[in-house]
Amino acid sequence: MKIFLDTANLEEIKKGVEWGIVDGVTTNPTLVAKEGADFKQRVKEICDLVKGPVSAEVIALDYEGMVKEARELASISEYVVVKIPMTPDGIKAVKTLSREGIKTNVTLVFSPAQAILAAKAGATYVSPFVGRMDDISNDGMRMLSEIVEIYNNYGFETEIIAASIRHPMHVIEAALMGVDIVTMPFEVLEKMFKHPMTDIGIERFLSDWKKYLEKVKK
Ligand code: G3P
Repeated sequence: MKIFLDTANLEEIKKGVEWGIVDGVTTNPTLVAKEGADFKQRVKEICDLVKGPVSAEVIALDYEGMVKEARELASISEYVVVKIPMTPDGIKAVKTLSREGIKTNVTLVFSPAQAILAAKAGATYVSPFVGRMDDISNDGMRMLSEIVEIYNNYGFETEIIAASIRHPMHVIEAALMGVDIVTMPFEVLEKMFKHPMTDIGIERFLSDWKKYLEKVKK
């Protein structure tokens, strides 16, 4: 399973990369706006840090506009993956871009039907939004598992990115169903380290070691 960070914050990305467990990054207009940085400059900086797939989203909603923005974004770095919203124009743009060898990530996916269209268009990645489904009392994980099953049935090459992840249980459930990638906020990645028994164990080892040192000193 690959781990992506869902952030445009350089400090968070640096930390994750230093831990050696981050394979890529996803951003969206909200995450970039939060940083207040120049968009293309920030995408370049993230690519240089991660040296893996970095999703950057188009703003245009029409086919021509999306394709134009996608080509510009793809020219920033070999690592750029162009995020395209799940609309008819978006799917048409994905088809064009996939023929040109530009990597795409179909975003704002909330149903297996939409995920089938993304795969048929030749998307490199598809991003079902789990947390936002849960937010409206729908079962985000169920939607994700249906997409995994359908993609396995047909051997679709599009990789599934479990997105809109809110807590470590989302990560575990996605991993159990064999999803390709989970993209998560830095906070969720940090939480994955935590276990009270680990902290208690470290404390006990250190105190026993201290006692041992005092004993051998005598
Ligand atoms: O980047 C797409 C997705 O992960 C957004 O998550 O938490 O805003 O629903 P969220």
